[in-house]
Amino acid sequence: MLLGVNIDHIATLRQARGTYYPDPLEAALIARQSGADSITVHLREDRRHIQDVDVVRLSEVPDLRINLEMAATGDMLSKAIEYLPADCCLVPEKREELTTEGGLNVAAQVDELTRVCAELQSAGIRVALFIDPDQLQLDAAKQTGAEVVELHTGCFAEAGPGDAREQELQRVVNAAEYAAAIGLRGHAGHGLNYTNVSDIAAIPELFELNIGHSVVAQSVFSGFAEAVREMKRLMMEARRE
Ligand code: PXP
Repeated sequence: MLLGVNIDHIATLRQARGTYYPDPLEAALIARQSGADSITVHLREDRRHIQDVDVVRLSEVPDLRINLEMAATGDMLSKAIEYLPADCCLVPEKREELTTEGGLNVAAQVDELTRVCAELQSAGIRVALFIDPDQLQLDAAKQTGAEVVELHTGCFAEAGPGDAREQELQRVVNAAEYAAAIGLRGHAGHGLNYTNVSDIAAIPELFELNIGHSVVAQSVFSGFAEAVREMKRLMMEARRE
């Protein structure tokens, strides 16, 4: 099973202060060195975190597999064809949302998405559609010619403990099995973290998970002690001179 690390929130931290750090490219290289199989970035219409230049710099790294998440708009289609990531994941996008809320309604736009998939594929890009774990959407995704579906695990991640969680997990399991049965490659993501990832990672029909927020959040505490020590060391060293 492959891990795609989403580094959007490295850029969120940078954009919060308008600095040049932390650099998403540096994060991508560390992620790769630490076992990430690909790097995911969502180039949003409002450019709230990842910027065009980030995608350009990431695309220039040899053998770094990039998964570009984007809305299926004409503007983003041109960007994808310019940057040529290995993968594109088409997602719904609303300006006011905090994060991607729900999957694409593929069934309502089969013709349009078929055209977008074909354009991306003719540029050599593998296309994934981010959808809710739902048979209707899987059948529609199959019609578009996309090779991959990324199953939205947000409802599973947000479900309280007990039956609700079990039900949401079962929806993902059923969707992953159905995707495999109709010849779609199954990926999953959204809201996965250190306490819920095991149940999803255990689903044999899934080939890749895309995880971002929890990894960036965890890294604060994995690295905080060292960051404080280094700042204090520099201060004390300056006083000794
Ligand atoms: N997959 C898709 C399609 C997404 O839109 C996102 C969030 O940008 C993720 C995965 C990663 O979600 P999270 O940051 O909650 O791990």
